[in-house]
Amino acid sequence: MGNAIQNEDYLFKKVYDHVLHRIERNEWKEHKKLPSVRQLASEMNIHRLTVLKAYQLLKQHDKVYVKDKVGYFVQSNVTKNLEYLDNPIVSAYVQKNHLSEIHQSPVSYNFSQALIDPNLLPNQYFSSYVKKVFDLYPKVLATYSTVQGDLELRESLTRYFINQYKTHLNPDNLLITSGSQQAIHLIAQTFIKSGDAVLFERPSYSAAIDIFRAQGAQIVTVDIHPNGYDLEQVERYLKQYKPRLFYLIPTFHNPTGYTVSAGQRKKLVELAEQYRCLLIEDDASHDIYFDHAPPPPIYTYDTAGTVIYIRSFCKYISPGLRIATVICQSSLMKSLITVKSLTDNGSPLLNQKIFLHYFSSLRMQQHLEKLRIALQIRKEIMEEELGVTDWKWTSPKGGLNLWVQLPDNLPTELLLTKSIEQSISFVPGQVCDPLKQLSSWIRLSFSYANEKQLSEGVKRFVAVAQSLL
Ligand SMILES: Cc1ncc(COP(=O)(O)O)c(C=O)c1O
Repeated sequence: MGNAIQNEDYLFKKVYDHVLHRIERNEWKEHKKLPSVRQLASEMNIHRLTVLKAYQLLKQHDKVYVKDKVGYFVQSNVTKNLEYLDNPIVSAYVQKNHLSEIHQSPVSYNFSQALIDPNLLPNQYFSSYVKKVFDLYPKVLATYSTVQGDLELRESLTRYFINQYKTHLNPDNLLITSGSQQAIHLIAQTFIKSGDAVLFERPSYSAAIDIFRAQGAQIVTVDIHPNGYDLEQVERYLKQYKPRLFYLIPTFHNPTGYTVSAGQRKKLVELAEQYRCLLIEDDASHDIYFDHAPPPPIYTYDTAGTVIYIRSFCKYISPGLRIATVICQSSLMKSLITVKSLTDNGSPLLNQKIFLHYFSSLRMQQHLEKLRIALQIRKEIMEEELGVTDWKWTSPKGGLNLWVQLPDNLPTELLLTKSIEQSISFVPGQVCDPLKQLSSWIRLSFSYANEKQLSEGVKRFVAVAQSLL
């Protein structure tokens, strides 16, 4: 019996991959009709129900669509994600990074980049620290860091996390990575095989979607709302799809700005333990709050080693230093360190030492307090300018973005083209949606443009949008 089930799962996956492979290789072009269930079942010598199940999952993953009583057809956006390079030397296909394409247009009113205005970061202070770091560690450029990360930095971060959250932790549970982007990539490489189901919030951070897709993951989505998730839906999906992991951004979520409550955090850990699903908690904006600090990270509720926590300090201390840390239990850590060693042999030691000395200084707290006020003011300017429209959004309590719902009849792609002509950029909701829908939503970042640019740029943007209605 057990074998029969395994065999059926295997065959089902084989059909799924067979169809997807043909679509991705452009052998079956968009809007082409797939072979009928009966035909493919007979060609592959398997049961019709197995083919039907694979077709239904392809539909759910938005690879194909159904025309009533006619059959299954190739969806139009499947191969858009994939760029076959004409160069014959490049044998693999390259997944596009949608967000970075938008960022490449130089604009005066930049609302697409969820980055903090460089003028708000401690540039001058850093330059004096660099000198101090060279005095303290004269050979800092003459040596490698350990692969896991500088011990002095891991000890300092361990003390910080213990003080903040009263958790049990030691420096061996920490891995220093070059930004959280690298951490996501290492995790995808370490824990995901092609065809594994992975749970994602919808919408989500677009680069993470692209990374897991490139690794061959089958993304299953859970909607995120201003109050968090529908936990019954989460449990149903954990049972149904047996995902390997759930990638989530529970604090000042990118792009929505929503924060998951402490109650849901606790329950999620219980569910994840019960269904043996890793929770990958990506926490890139934890300290960017406006009134109150957010609830403690999900990893602080974890006692069984179910959570891998990624904390980045890039955004609000120094994007250029590329410092983030991964916290997880030792058996998972071992594999991550191996993959990290194959990737870059450890993050640059100089960056880690500069970060260490700034992070443990009083200046850092003062910087954060000022930064929170400056960002809150920018958020309020953007909201005030948008106040003349009937667009909808939930005012975020932290983070860098507004997630805005436009009227249904506003064509977002045309809006992006026209906005870029007017030197304004934003991120269309589709880019943040694993299902590539959500076309009436956009992400507007209020953290990069200065107050004057925000005020002028949003006025112009609203005018462009209104001219299209
Ligand atoms: C949710 C989330 N994760 C990860 C990143 C990547 O950040 P970094 O690699 O600079 O730490 C970002 C940046 O926008 C983000 O918003």
